[in-house]
Amino acid sequence: MADSVHGPTSFSTQANALLRKNFTFQKRDIKSNIRLISVPIILCLLLVFLQNWVNKELDKPWNRCGCKCIDENGEGKCEEVCGIEYSDLNQAISCSIPRPLEWPPLLQIPESTYRAVQTDFISYGDLPDDSCKISGSCPATILLTGTNQTLGESMGTNLFSSGSTLDYSDIFYSLAYNVLGSESQSKYMNFLEAAFFSNQTVYNVRSQCSPDFTFSLPLDFGSVAVQQEISCVKGLHLWRNSSHEINDELHKGYMNGNPERKINEIIAAYDFLNSNRNGFNVSIWYNSSYKNGKSNQPLALTRVPRSVNLASNAYILDLLGPSARILFEFVKEMPKPETKLNLDFASLLGPLFFTWVVSQLFPVVLIALVYEKQQKLRIMMKMHGLGDGPYWLISYAYFLFVASIYMLCFVIFGSLVGLKFFLLNDYAIQFVFYFIYINLQESLAFLVAAFFSNVQAATGLLSVIEVVVNIATIAHMKKNVYENDDEPIFLINFQQLILYDRFCLLDIVTVIGYVMVFANGLLSSFLFQFFLQDETFSRGWIIVMELYPGFSLFRGLYEFSHYAFKGNYLGTDGMRWKDLSDGKNGMKEVLIIMLVQWLVFLFLGYYVDQIASSGKYSLCFMWHSRKRPPPSSRKHSFRRQGSKVFVQMEKPDVAQERERVEQLLESSTGHAVICDNLEKVYPGKDGNPEKFAVRGLSLALPQGECFGMLGPNGAGKTTFINMMIGLIKPSSGTAYAQGMDIRTDMDMIYTNMGVCPQHDLLWEILTGREHLLFYGRLKNLEGADLTQAVEESLKSVNLFHGGVADKKAGKYSGGMKRRLSVAISLIGDPKVVYMDEPSTGLDPSSRSNLWNVVKRAKQDRAIILTTHSMEEAEHLCDRLGIFVDGSLQCIGNPKELKARYGGSYVFTMTTSSDNEEEVEHMVQSLSPNANRIYHLSGTQKFELPKQEVRIADVFQAVEKAKSRFTVYAWGLADTTLEDVFIKVAHTAQAFNVLS
Ligand SMILES: *[C@@H]1O[C@H](CO)[C@@H](O)[C@H](O)[C@H]1NC(C)=O
Ligand SMILES: *[C@@H]1O[C@H](CO)[C@@H](O)[C@H](O)[C@H]1NC(C)=O
Repeated sequence: MADSVHGPTSFSTQANALLRKNFTFQKRDIKSNIRLISVPIILCLLLVFLQNWVNKELDKPWNRCGCKCIDENGEGKCEEVCGIEYSDLNQAISCSIPRPLEWPPLLQIPESTYRAVQTDFISYGDLPDDSCKISGSCPATILLTGTNQTLGESMGTNLFSSGSTLDYSDIFYSLAYNVLGSESQSKYMNFLEAAFFSNQTVYNVRSQCSPDFTFSLPLDFGSVAVQQEISCVKGLHLWRNSSHEINDELHKGYMNGNPERKINEIIAAYDFLNSNRNGFNVSIWYNSSYKNGKSNQPLALTRVPRSVNLASNAYILDLLGPSARILFEFVKEMPKPETKLNLDFASLLGPLFFTWVVSQLFPVVLIALVYEKQQKLRIMMKMHGLGDGPYWLISYAYFLFVASIYMLCFVIFGSLVGLKFFLLNDYAIQFVFYFIYINLQESLAFLVAAFFSNVQAATGLLSVIEVVVNIATIAHMKKNVYENDDEPIFLINFQQLILYDRFCLLDIVTVIGYVMVFANGLLSSFLFQFFLQDETFSRGWIIVMELYPGFSLFRGLYEFSHYAFKGNYLGTDGMRWKDLSDGKNGMKEVLIIMLVQWLVFLFLGYYVDQIASSGKYSLCFMWHSRKRPPPSSRKHSFRRQGSKVFVQMEKPDVAQERERVEQLLESSTGHAVICDNLEKVYPGKDGNPEKFAVRGLSLALPQGECFGMLGPNGAGKTTFINMMIGLIKPSSGTAYAQGMDIRTDMDMIYTNMGVCPQHDLLWEILTGREHLLFYGRLKNLEGADLTQAVEESLKSVNLFHGGVADKKAGKYSGGMKRRLSVAISLIGDPKVVYMDEPSTGLDPSSRSNLWNVVKRAKQDRAIILTTHSMEEAEHLCDRLGIFVDGSLQCIGNPKELKARYGGSYVFTMTTSSDNEEEVEHMVQSLSPNANRIYHLSGTQKFELPKQEVRIADVFQAVEKAKSRFTVYAWGLADTTLEDVFIKVAHTAQAFNVLS
């Protein structure tokens, strides 16, 4: 006996089977594969497209160094020459500039309409009155203050030149004696001074202007020559009592979006503080609002140095006399190579797009897991020998593998199409980041899937969401429709959703999964990024937000893109390992958070899954399951607990079976299946009494027997089978399959057991052959044996021909699915097979096919099948048991049962109506207790108790009758099994109603 028992399948066998199944499944799941592959490709290509568009825009001539076609030799052929001399202000920035030009330092002069004048809100009488604005002759003002007014006012008179003439032989030197300024806005790079290229006048600020002081000056700045108009503007210096007053005046003169107010701008203001002959201190106000565009750089800084020099000169002049000067001749930029304007647009959009790409894996894993659980395929696999441990390990490894391939392709593809995001950052950091994240994502998917498979847990989870959503709804309603109290409030009830339609669950998960991916990207990009960029937002809160995996993913991608953007702009590397220690780089925290979460989720996922599969809600389930009954008492510990009431009521056949079981248990000779007083009680709920689903069932099946279980619906047949296949634990008693206890050795039993469940548990997109290959591998078959077994199995259930074997199971008809389920239960030569209504819903020819399969199969194994078809039971089963209300009412082979419970023949005779009475007399003489059960125009049916009649007598009597009158037809029938079934069921139920 022992050598016919298969040992548990090794880990590698299970792994092999599951892996191959998963790969086949992946291969077949074309729709999700396409989605999986196309999303990153489309997003990457979109980025590349956008990037190219941006690059093209930036590469337009007005963003490039200016060029000109020069005909050097006068041959009519010109050569393109580029350089700063052919560029305008914008183009100059891109040129190669080995020797930058020198520019006279300029002051920023307010535009004449904005220069400070007397207004209704500034009361200083020393300001000019605003009539000067009409003629455009307003002076430009400098405000002064300090502790020593004498000294300050004296320095003020030194600020502006009084009229030194220009010396054309050394124009820069003589310009330095003048105070030049411009109203133009400076660029952020001063390769070309905007003042000389904007068709605006350059001002010479003087203490007095003669009216004719406007002239045009040819200026030659190296390669660039300009004809520059220079005009005079009066410089005004005004004393204020304190810096406070200056601030106040500036404040009031600042227009901030209020067109009613007047702008009063000044050139600059000086606070000479405590300056005296021994020391010079000065604070300078300058107008930083002269900026070009929206850039944050204070562009007017190029006009600030001259105002510093102005103050220094005023002091020196005062200290040393009119000949002393600190001359400020020119300003120039550093030399620079040719540069192109570039903007790594892809890196800016990257985090959003890549968040979508990476998190797309989450629903993929989640749906795959929920699918297997919801379709009960996980249980089906478990029943065919796939342990929880291997399932977890292999599934995890498999999805990790898929995710790794996916990410690898993503990074390689992104690098190939030239996205800086991938190229500039260290690949090692990218690898670590993505690896940890896909692990985190996967363990989260396992956790969520465990929740979803556990209806109670899922309901709990959804209740929490529900409460939050409803509170939010109520709060919202209260706020918005406060006046209208009759407004009905609609509340969401997820629990109802789940209870109403559990089959929708997968769709719900799919929709929720993808919506979450999409929303997650947007939320990260528009909310979380906002917090990230807000320097004042607490870093602590950012870390708290990063506990949400979507945000930590975004943070990592954001850092990558940030470094890539910077690297691209500055022409340096992206993120390197050393950058992790940078305080502003959030990558380190993100990595740590994700790593910890990964491990926590992994543990939790496994834990919840174990709770779900063990059906217990105990915190210490792991230790519970280890606790086994002590070996000596194990076999018989529940023996005598069976309810005695039932023992007394038992029919002799059932009692005999019980005795046989007890003997078998003592002698421990091998029987395929031995049930020892198996019992299942469901605890009473909501005030209902507890329900006995199975009451003390004892049964023994030798090898080669097919046992049929008959019984009305709700009799406990399925509960019994579920106990035998390890889905639920018996309340008391136990059963042994091949000598192994169902309470403790289920893992061993699985390898020797086949199950054909009541509903077909099949993968829609796998073919029949693939199903059999998978389950065959789980049963230790391999190589040629496996191929042969699968082929034989397909042939035996008539699924081999016509390419049916290689069609997707989802496309099978009900009969084909059923036959495939039976084939699955029989593959790998299991010693015990359970079939739950195997032929339900089959047409007669499929059914007879199936019967032949089962008949052939039962030769060397024990089969327990439940059925509602008496024909099937009679055809297939060696012994039958009628199961009513949780206990066996009778047991025996079909003939015995009929003999025992039928107890009568049915005699039918058809004559002309005149002879009816004679027939009745004849039957009376045959059997005094005969009972007429049917009568219609000459046709009569009688029930004859078997003990009163002999068949030979009946024949004799009929022969005699035939000689006396015409008999059209007659017949004698034994009772059918159906009669037995109805009788037994009725008696048992009637008894139960009475008790
Ligand atoms: C103020 O400055 C003037 C001129 O430099 C000097 O003569 C005078 O002593 C200073 N006054 C004070 C109070 O330091
Ligand atoms: C500034 O000080 C002078 C002298 O102390 C005084 O006459 C004048 O009113 C003050 N100006 C203001 C605006 O307070």
